[in-house]
Amino acid sequence: MTIKCIGILTSGGDAPGMNAAIRAVTRTAIYNGFEVKGIMRGYKGLVTNEIVDFRSKSVSNIIQQGGTILKTARCKEFQTPEGRRQAYDNMRAAGIDALVVIGGDGSLTGASIFAQEYDVPIVGLPGTIDNDLGGTDSTIGYDTALNTIVDAVDKLRDTATSHERLFFVEVMGHTAGFLALNSAIASGAEAAIIPEIETEVDQLAELINHGFRKSKNSAIVLVAENPATGGAMGLARRVKEEFPEFDARVTILGHIQRGGSPTAIDRILASRMGEAAIEALMEGQRNVMIGIKNGQMVYVPFPKAVRHDKTIDRVSLDLVKILSI
Ligand code: F6P
Repeated sequence: MTIKCIGILTSGGDAPGMNAAIRAVTRTAIYNGFEVKGIMRGYKGLVTNEIVDFRSKSVSNIIQQGGTILKTARCKEFQTPEGRRQAYDNMRAAGIDALVVIGGDGSLTGASIFAQEYDVPIVGLPGTIDNDLGGTDSTIGYDTALNTIVDAVDKLRDTATSHERLFFVEVMGHTAGFLALNSAIASGAEAAIIPEIETEVDQLAELINHGFRKSKNSAIVLVAENPATGGAMGLARRVKEEFPEFDARVTILGHIQRGGSPTAIDRILASRMGEAAIEALMEGQRNVMIGIKNGQMVYVPFPKAVRHDKTIDRVSLDLVKILSI
């Protein structure tokens, strides 16, 4: 099938840099002679037929904006065969031949199912602050979120030091520790407590017994959200019961991590990936996510991207320990 018109949508949790990606996809597509349509509110807009014509001007002045001009949603209807049928019918009626989906694991899983059911060429872009997609060193929004966290931890450090307190700072990650680990390195935190090694060691006991108790009066510990352990709140509860000599406090950074103007790194990544998505479609690629590996754009099949087997860098984990003695 010849592709004439490409639809773009953003889906799932928003991430800074999504707008830069929308701009790059739109302008690269127009440059190469395609028509472009913007689909509002993720898959929801496909199901409810909220599809608008996109011109070069539609994406003017957005590269610096956080959030997504296309809005985003998590769409229950699209998880049903009836919803996907409706989505396909609307897409075809709007003249859309191929899709670029910008989102995280849920969004790309949806893309994968849709592409199999309806033989639609789809290319995904990794849009999530969590950096938890396989086959890519980084995702769009991750660097900005890291910077937001580091900025917050720098501020918390002042009060933690003044009061000689132990602070558990909970960050997002969708049970992945990339944000926690790398923001711990960048902010000089005493430890990162991450789900990936949850079953290997008692990370809290290790921290208290081998580091904090001996040499420190105050400490900042980055904690990846983890419903299984209760995250930072769960750790603070444990400190109260098991190590009552410490004055522990909890800060949950929450959705502030998803906002803000994207960093230059995220803008460049989104721009390169957006261009690569259109090139992928022109090459006949389908059902792949664009990734970045050692600085190069790569194609990652959807099942690999969403497998949740991306490993944490053990060297980075050791680095946090070494640098916090
Ligand atoms: O964007 C991914 C993420 O930030 C996860 O880390 C987090 O668990 C989730 O989104 C929360 O998103 P929401 O509140 O929009 O459901």
